[in-house]
Amino acid sequence: MDALIIRGPAKLEGKIEVSGSKNTALPLLFASLLFDEELHYENVPRLWDVETTLKLLESMGAEYSWHKEEGRVRILPKVRERLASYDWVKKMRAGILALGPLLAKYGEARVSLPGGCAIGARPVNFHLDAIKKLGATVSVENGYIHATAAKPLQGTRIVFPEVTVTGTENLLCVAVLAQGKTQIINAALEPEVIQLGRFLMDCGARIQGLGTATIEIEGVAKLTPPKLPIRVPADRIEAGTWIAIATATRSPLELLSCPVTDMDSVFAAYSEMGVRFEISGQDGTVYVVPPEKLKPLDIETQPYPGFPTDMQAQVLVNLCLASGTSTVKETIFENRFMHVAELKRLGANIRIHGNVATVEGPALLRGAPMMATDLRASACLVVAALAAVGETKISRIYHLDRGYQRLDEKLRKLGADIERISDA
Ligand code: EPU
Repeated sequence: MDALIIRGPAKLEGKIEVSGSKNTALPLLFASLLFDEELHYENVPRLWDVETTLKLLESMGAEYSWHKEEGRVRILPKVRERLASYDWVKKMRAGILALGPLLAKYGEARVSLPGGCAIGARPVNFHLDAIKKLGATVSVENGYIHATAAKPLQGTRIVFPEVTVTGTENLLCVAVLAQGKTQIINAALEPEVIQLGRFLMDCGARIQGLGTATIEIEGVAKLTPPKLPIRVPADRIEAGTWIAIATATRSPLELLSCPVTDMDSVFAAYSEMGVRFEISGQDGTVYVVPPEKLKPLDIETQPYPGFPTDMQAQVLVNLCLASGTSTVKETIFENRFMHVAELKRLGANIRIHGNVATVEGPALLRGAPMMATDLRASACLVVAALAAVGETKISRIYHLDRGYQRLDEKLRKLGADIERISDA
């Protein structure tokens, strides 16, 4: 298992190219199951979760090639097994995204229940209730979801009790091939959902209302893959993490290919802390200019367009360094403060009451050994270690490799003292 050694405080300088979005790449790759023909993708990020997705598709019978350096993927979805086995889904909860496409295309799906993870219980009941309403028979036995459709699924009105990103994505994939009209009420507004929806529309799907809380889908008989390669857009959470890094190290950084229009809430939060952004035109170049002294902030995570839960851990580090009292309320996942205990080991002053973290700053962070517990928590530990004085060792960084393309290499190019070691 790899670990990172970081010696801080870092002073960084330079430009960073933001990589393709993990949470868009995954549903787009799983959506290949809706087709018979070969699909081509570009700007696919080099991540463990992409590797797991491709291996999972291969275990079903698909053939693929992945040019990792160039970010190109080709998938021929020759499905023999309509099965997403526990062996793969236990590595990556997003395996649940196989459910919708398999059921829509083959009338059957057997998908391992994802189970809980370090950030919460994360049930999939909304996904299952939705496909049942469209006419699927669903049973859960021996840790597997078994969904079947004896006759064509029928479009209907689905109301999600809470906003669910992958739930909306699964339902989109089912509804585009169901008979008649499906209405999704309380649909997720996340850019990743819009990007999947647009791809489906490029393939002939009839969808209205993407990016609003009510999406209407008129089912079609068949989808045809687009002629041009499917391009994965840049990752708004990676871009946000770079803003957190620039802010924590007080280093002006230039982000290239930043998905500017999807990041209003992140720009607003950091602007309130005193960070200045120079955004040039439509090409996604953002110059991040952090202040010497950061202001505190009260913030809560919300579904898009609110402040993303996937940025909560990183912003918490910045608030440890701000002068004064800040609060961070986590409203999406019940257990997403695992990183707090680790940050305290560096000297952070944070108290947790229920789903609210109260931060007193500024703290002088000092390097210490730490353990990564989930993907965004790992990113937050990297942000903290870069700001801390002395050496920090972060163990179990496979979590980081699941969702950030070569973060350590990108940091080294900017001047960070960061080393990857093999840790027994
Ligand atoms: N929920 C239910 N039942 C369901 C579905 C969701 O109770 O059937 C609850 C969840 O437990 C949670 C809330 O609803 O409390 C929202 O969960 P959501 O379904 O939106 O999360 P997700 O689709 O499983 C995606 C991202 C996460 C991101 C969340 C929220 C992917 C592959 N994952 O998860 O990304 O945090 O939306 O924005 O798109 C990450 O990248 O680190 C990550 C965890």
